[in-house]
Amino acid sequence: MTEQHKNIYPVPDALAKRAWIGKADYEALYRQSIEDPEGYWAEQAKRLDWIKAPTKIKNASFDVNNVDIRWFEDGTLNASVNCLDRHLETRGDQPAIIWEGDDPANDKTLTYRELYEKTCQLANGFKEMGIGKGDVVTLYMPMVPEAAIAMLACARIGAIHSVVFGGFSPDAVAQRVVGAKSKLIITADESVRGGKQVPLKDNVDAALTRDGTEVCENVLVVKRTGGDIDWHEGRDVWYDDLVSRQATDCPAEEMGAEDPLFILYTSGSTGAPKGMKHTTGGYLTYVAMTHQYVFDYHDGDIYWCTADVGWITGHSYIVYGPLANGATTLMFEGVPSYPTPGRMGEVVDKHKVNVLYTAPTAIRALRAHGDDVMDSSSRDSLRVLGTVGEPINPEAWEWYYRVVGKAQCPVVDTWWQTENGGILISPLPGATDLKPGSATLPLFGIKPGIVDNDGNLLEGEAEGNLVILDAWPGIARSIWGDHERFVQTYFSTYPGMYFTSDAAYRDADGYYWITGRVDDVLNVSGHRMGTSEIESSLVAHDKVAEAAVVGFPHDIKGQGIYIYVTLAEDFEPSDELKKELIQWVRKDIGPIASPDVIQWATDLPKTRSGKIMRRILRKIATNETEGLGDTSTLADPSVVDELIEHRANR
Ligand code: PRX
Repeated sequence: MTEQHKNIYPVPDALAKRAWIGKADYEALYRQSIEDPEGYWAEQAKRLDWIKAPTKIKNASFDVNNVDIRWFEDGTLNASVNCLDRHLETRGDQPAIIWEGDDPANDKTLTYRELYEKTCQLANGFKEMGIGKGDVVTLYMPMVPEAAIAMLACARIGAIHSVVFGGFSPDAVAQRVVGAKSKLIITADESVRGGKQVPLKDNVDAALTRDGTEVCENVLVVKRTGGDIDWHEGRDVWYDDLVSRQATDCPAEEMGAEDPLFILYTSGSTGAPKGMKHTTGGYLTYVAMTHQYVFDYHDGDIYWCTADVGWITGHSYIVYGPLANGATTLMFEGVPSYPTPGRMGEVVDKHKVNVLYTAPTAIRALRAHGDDVMDSSSRDSLRVLGTVGEPINPEAWEWYYRVVGKAQCPVVDTWWQTENGGILISPLPGATDLKPGSATLPLFGIKPGIVDNDGNLLEGEAEGNLVILDAWPGIARSIWGDHERFVQTYFSTYPGMYFTSDAAYRDADGYYWITGRVDDVLNVSGHRMGTSEIESSLVAHDKVAEAAVVGFPHDIKGQGIYIYVTLAEDFEPSDELKKELIQWVRKDIGPIASPDVIQWATDLPKTRSGKIMRRILRKIATNETEGLGDTSTLADPSVVDELIEHRANR
């Protein structure tokens, strides 16, 4: 490992005293949670208000012949009641959401009572539109309070939300609407990020011209900018018109613990994105617990997670975890570097943020400006810093700790996945000595393992594939509409274990160091995407005969997107065509999939059976052309020399 591996930051005394979990607590509770999961989680479930308290705690099998995961299965509850109603008496006037607009002049605060009333009004509006228990509602929203309100309003009436990231294209929206048979889309006229408008409503209009989207009956439109949009009479409804006539109370639907709360699509190495199905009781227990312990959240703290609600981090750690805990959660509409590079610190000062949870890519982008980028803020309010989404290199970690946190705040490097519901491996601020670059130790109830390629569990210090050996309450229960794919994707590689598709190293202290994906999933600026999705987009272009996509290390984004393109007959490479292809992918998938490098290839390295050898393409993209390994099995080994000669990433 690197030099920084040797740096250890012990828990500061002051924190050890006030933290929910100290060192000795961690060890004892971890042991209990593994030895007696039923007892541990029965106790944790008490953090929620149940209509009927669960008596059956855990009923979960990772057996590949019978993957079936249930938690608290005979309990009933409502997630929105847990995030709203139960706080009204004690903290009705406390800010629930602080909204900070893209433009620093725009902000507003919603108290728990206001959030409750607005949620009830929308829930009543849903009912008026004929939406009820089990219906899927798609959200394609800016980062505005209405996004959280819509999620909670769905939960209130038992509808299932499916949030589509606002940076995705019309096709991505259409694919998810069709996949989930969604009757309603909620969107806004436009979103605003970094001073630029994104035409969300136009995108929805375009999405709804695609085959299969007739299932969607209505589009509910939040007026965010007042920009020009087309209006489809009978289908489109203004959000304000609908909610303003509704009562501010709405009875909550009694939901089974295993009833779905939401679907969230995520990319895999093959095929279309998978709709992960998350359920109610276990998910909410898990995100509430992890939000409290990992960020050491105390009453009155101001907590800011910079993610977008379109990703799982936004679901679990902007909306459900914080609100279940009665926290004040800051929701930021913009981008961290607008209008000034120091905006993130300025927002921290403006709202006296105590906990900041962001992504390595944002930290690296800030750091690239130099230390004085933080001079525009004091950040004296900060107490805990968090990161998520991709491996953080020790240099970026040290910078975050030293410059952003002024060497006063522990950095919690939280490892987890969309499929996991909540954080699985992370330091606890009052309990864990930190090593920059390591996600450190498993949280309560999480039993990680490292296996070799044959599935043998390795003991002690080890490097290999990261698996989880037993179920925890937050894990997804299935892939929407395709349980077999769920079983195959996660439980068949190493039977009896959940396979994360990440590689990891466990050091002699039992600390985990996540090294990255071992499948064909890229992580670009913390955004997860499948290489196959980008390839299918490219080959749909009439000038492209074949395309192969690999990742390469990128200073800011973590990974960049490198594309090899073989053109169809009669077409010649040109810079114009490169631009055209980049635009094509941006339009087809979304700007997050924007290719960084395109290399023209007269042919691609393939085995005799026609399989593209990505291992070789990855090495060429990374300029590691020395150890290419055995190329003699290729149908035409000379292809490799030609690709090396013309490599584009010099
Ligand atoms: O490779 C891991 C990486 O992000 C993947 C999961 O992506 P997604 O489902 O989009 O969820 C991201 C936010 C929870 C993982 O398989 N990853 C996430 N967090 C970390 C990480 N890699 C290293 N360190 C992390 N802290």
